[in-house]
Amino acid sequence: MPAIENLGAASRTSPIFSPEEVTVIFVLGGPGAGKGTQCSNLVTDYGFEHLSAGDLLREEQNRPGSEFGEMIKTYIKEGTIVPMEVTIQLLENAMKAAMEKDGRKMFLIDGFPRKLDQAHAFERSVVPSKFTLFFDCPEDIMEKRLLNRGKTSGRADDNIESIKKRFRTFVETSMPVVKEFESQGRVVKVDATRSPEEVYQDVKEKIKAWGVEPINLKFVPA
Ligand code: ADP
Ligand code: C5P
Ligand code: MG
Repeated sequence: MPAIENLGAASRTSPIFSPEEVTVIFVLGGPGAGKGTQCSNLVTDYGFEHLSAGDLLREEQNRPGSEFGEMIKTYIKEGTIVPMEVTIQLLENAMKAAMEKDGRKMFLIDGFPRKLDQAHAFERSVVPSKFTLFFDCPEDIMEKRLLNRGKTSGRADDNIESIKKRFRTFVETSMPVVKEFESQGRVVKVDATRSPEEVYQDVKEKIKAWGVEPINLKFVPA
C-alpha cells in the first residue's frame, strides 16, 4: 500500500459502489461479543463475504514490507483505533478482490466502523450500509470469553491489560457509532449473552425483517 496520505479511499467525495448493487452490513459489538462467531454462521447460510477489519489489520501488520506494520501493532496492543485511511483502504481492496474473484456483492463488515470518522468516510466514499447488526453484551461476559479465547488465539490483545483498554475504547469511541446509527433507525440489536445457537436464531429472525433471507431458501423445490 502507498503512504498514508496517498490512500485514496477515505478522501473521495462520492461512493464507488451503489447500495442497489453492493450490500454491506456492518457488524458491531464489544470485543468478545461474538461477532466473528455469528458472521461464520451467516457466511454458510446466506452466502455473505465476511471481512473482519481486525483480521485485515493483522494481515497487513504481518505482511513483509508493510510500512504500516509497526503502527498497526502498537494500536492493536493498546486497543486503540488505527487511523481510518488504512482500514478503509484495506476494506476497499478486499471488497474489490472478492468481487473480482467470485462476483460476491454481499458483505458482512465485522468490527467496523469503530469510530464516527470511519463510519462517515466509508459511507461517503465506498458505499452506504444497509444496517448495523449490533451484538449487545456486558463486559463481565465478554471478559470471560476473551480470556478463554486468549488460551489459544495467539492474539497480542487477548490479555487482561489489553482487554480493559479495548473495553474503554469501545465505550468511548465505538458506542457513539452505534448510537448514531440507532438514531437513524439503522440498528438491529441482538442480545449476545445467550448460547451461540440462540443468538444465531435471533439474528436470523431479525434480519428477515430487513429482507435478508438464507440462500438455500431460494432453491427449495416446488
Ligand atoms: P468477537 O469477534 O466479537 O470479538 P468472537 O466471535 O471471536 O468475538 O468470540 C469470542 C470468544 O467467545 C470465542 O472464543 C468464541 O468461541 C466465544 N463465543 C462466541 N459467541 C459465544 C456465545 N454466544 N457464548 C459463549 N461463547 C461464545
Ligand atoms: O475486531 P478485532 O477485535 O479483531 O479488532 C482488533 C483490534 O484491531 C482493535 O482493538 C483495534 O486496535 C483494531 N481495529 C481498528 N479499527 C477497526 C477494527 C479493529 O483499529 N475498525
Ligand atoms: Mg472478531
